[in-house]
Amino acid sequence: MRPADLRICKQEGRPIAVLTAWDALSAALVEAAGADVVLVGDSLAMVVLGHATTLPVTLEEMILHTRAVGRGLQRPADQRPLIITDLPFLSYQCGADDAVAAAGQVLKDSPAAGVKLEGAEPETLAVVDRLVRSGIPVMGHLGLTPQAVHQLGYRRQANDPISQERLKRQARDLQAAGCFALVLEHVPAELAAGLSTELAIPVIGIGAGDRCDGQVRVTADLLGLSARQPPFCPPLLQGRELCIDALRGWVAGLQPQGAPNPPTTPSAPAAPHC
Ligand code: KIV
Repeated sequence: MRPADLRICKQEGRPIAVLTAWDALSAALVEAAGADVVLVGDSLAMVVLGHATTLPVTLEEMILHTRAVGRGLQRPADQRPLIITDLPFLSYQCGADDAVAAAGQVLKDSPAAGVKLEGAEPETLAVVDRLVRSGIPVMGHLGLTPQAVHQLGYRRQANDPISQERLKRQARDLQAAGCFALVLEHVPAELAAGLSTELAIPVIGIGAGDRCDGQVRVTADLLGLSARQPPFCPPLLQGRELCIDALRGWVAGLQPQGAPNPPTTPSAPAAPHC
């Protein structure tokens, strides 16, 4: 799977499944589930690093997590999902030279085959153009862009005709600048469906209705593991409660030293580190 192959999926009408991962364990899960793309999203700043927003995560941390994700993939190299890594806040906003250095570092030092960045202001379009002309595949991201949280909050975007026209123009601009795919987050379903039909590049939705070329989800949200669930991503299971109950049962079952052994039950095969 290469970034350009996603366009073939779109042409063949095959839905594109994108799931986030942040370490070897989560990467093995999403690969086994059949994801086409593993996104090492900067949501990991909140999901696993405990930050309040995505802003504090650094380029070095994104590379470290991407390397762990790469180690978690188990399939033969030619059958692995594509790895795309988010460029963190301030790694591409200060100009095209910085952006090429940051994105180039991601591709040199990790198994990522491309990067994702947010927005489509003229400066960002110039950055996308430079990255693409430097051989670095870029995925765009419009709508709710968490790196702009202090301007936009986490509200649904493009709710009125003027902002919808603006978003459409930005999507066309990102395609023209060379993005190989576009994430649309928390925007009206009609708008996302229209852009999926209009654009040649795949539109990957999250909170953008089900008529996109593909869908992306933060895996921890889908599994119900996140402490705060976004309203547009209902969990598939109550993972947090299930895990806490199981662990609570284990803690409660610990016997005081010297107590008689409880009856043995057949146990699962030992993990390799045991
Ligand atoms: O960081 C992330 O996980 C993302 C997805 C929500 C698309 O950008």
